[in-house]
Amino acid sequence: MQQKRLTAALLAALVAVVSADSDVTSLTKDTFNDFINGNDLVLAEFFAPWCGHCKALAPEYEEAATTLKEKSIKLAKVDCVEEADLCKDHGVEGYPTLKVFRGLDKVTPYTGPRKADGITSYMVKQSLPAVSVLTKDTLEDFKTADNVVLVAYIASDDKASNETFTAIANELRDTYLFGGINDAAVAKAEGVEFPSIVLYKNFDEGKNVFSEKFDADAIRSFAKVAATPLVGEVGPETYAGYMSAGIPLAYIFAETPEERVELSKSLKPIAEKYKGKINFATIDAKNFGSHAANINLKTDKFPAFAIHDIEKNLKFPFDQEKEITEKDIAQFVDNFSAGKIEPSIKSEPIPETQEGPVTVVVAHTYKDIVLDDTKDVLIEFYAPWCGHCKALAPKYDELASLYANSEFKDKVVVAKVDATNNDVPDEIQGFPTIKLYPAGDKQNPVTYSGARTVEDFIEFIKENGKYKASVEVPVETTEEATPEATKEAKADEDHDEL
Ligand SMILES: *[C@@H]1O[C@H](CO)[C@@H](O)[C@H](O)[C@H]1NC(C)=O
Ligand SMILES: *[C@@H]1O[C@H](CO)[C@@H](O)[C@H](O)[C@H]1NC(C)=O
Repeated sequence: MQQKRLTAALLAALVAVVSADSDVTSLTKDTFNDFINGNDLVLAEFFAPWCGHCKALAPEYEEAATTLKEKSIKLAKVDCVEEADLCKDHGVEGYPTLKVFRGLDKVTPYTGPRKADGITSYMVKQSLPAVSVLTKDTLEDFKTADNVVLVAYIASDDKASNETFTAIANELRDTYLFGGINDAAVAKAEGVEFPSIVLYKNFDEGKNVFSEKFDADAIRSFAKVAATPLVGEVGPETYAGYMSAGIPLAYIFAETPEERVELSKSLKPIAEKYKGKINFATIDAKNFGSHAANINLKTDKFPAFAIHDIEKNLKFPFDQEKEITEKDIAQFVDNFSAGKIEPSIKSEPIPETQEGPVTVVVAHTYKDIVLDDTKDVLIEFYAPWCGHCKALAPKYDELASLYANSEFKDKVVVAKVDATNNDVPDEIQGFPTIKLYPAGDKQNPVTYSGARTVEDFIEFIKENGKYKASVEVPVETTEEATPEATKEAKADEDHDEL
């Protein structure tokens, strides 16, 4: 009896220790529903003890839980090894899975960052209505409630502006905080008129004003431009945003945080001048130095600067032998903006002679060979490491020989280019990519998607080329291309990813 009571007391003490230690509540099938129903807003992590990403998340998740405790936002976790059924009921398929619960019926996937600050800021946004209605007294705190907040100053009878703003807020609520105020005196004190939007931010110039007519697209792009730091940082979380921004990106590669801070300070006036036209961002050259090669920079000499025109995939590296100074970079960017800088084209040397039957193309000969308007040109974009390309090589050689030894030798070119070592204007999704550039119609290349047999290539050239050039395949090779072989070639998933 005595013994039993002691054990229970000990257990209770242990539980108390565990919970005092952590602001993350561990849930089981017995406690889950009550906990979710008893709290307005819960972020739940479904994890497995062995999962590496879960382990990396754990300290961040703890820290966020502590910060969010005072805001009555609860963080919970479920061990899916112990609670397999509970996880299955919630459709958990990978670890960690994070879900936002507003009761058991309203569940949304968590799409925020996995760092403490990011989790906190995402969940605070979730806890607020899409647009917080503000007053003179709450405005000041709201301005600094997140890195970026948008406040609409709207007349109380201006339904149209209110609706437009609310719709944008609903759309972007995971990204920014939104508030609205209809006090004319406050607007006046802020120096704006109805209707306006002020974006407050804790970096750069501190705030930006939108005073045009409320239009969803205009507000969206205002927010995007104003919320992007003058000199940001390229990293796994921001890269996609820069790539889809629709404007060129100027990279500042540097190895240490100190260098990055210093360079971003000194180049800031240039970023300011080109705001909305060119994005500027530093990038950690220690961790992502190899990325420099993609913008035609050497990967062993930092700091370095380069502009990538993403839309046209053109690269403008700044001379790596020169020092990066505000004056020289300003001139370089001005020249770039005026179209006075030639893009750098990565190219292998032009081959002195063509050794094999397949014509070797490099970036510097691309125009002369592939875009030769008098010839049908079949070109293979390959990568040296690509297995499917190697498998294709003997057939491709044979195809080239057949045309080279035929009446079409001056009309049809079978060519290849190593697309990893040569900048080509084509968008390549995988290797090999094969296209026909027909004579007289170079703007309309046709991408090859058939089986990789000599016969099918010939058929393709005959069908899509200007000269309808068909050649005979000698008997030995016909045998190789039995229907079965063709089928196999088709069924084989035949692209190596980039
Ligand atoms: C926008 O409309 C909502 C609903 O009618 C209202 O509660 C809110 O105060 C309005 N916002 C502003 C800034 O006037
Ligand atoms: C920019 O262009 C000017 C004049 O065309 C030239 O003198 C200067 O060297 C260029 N500077 C850079 C950094 O490209």
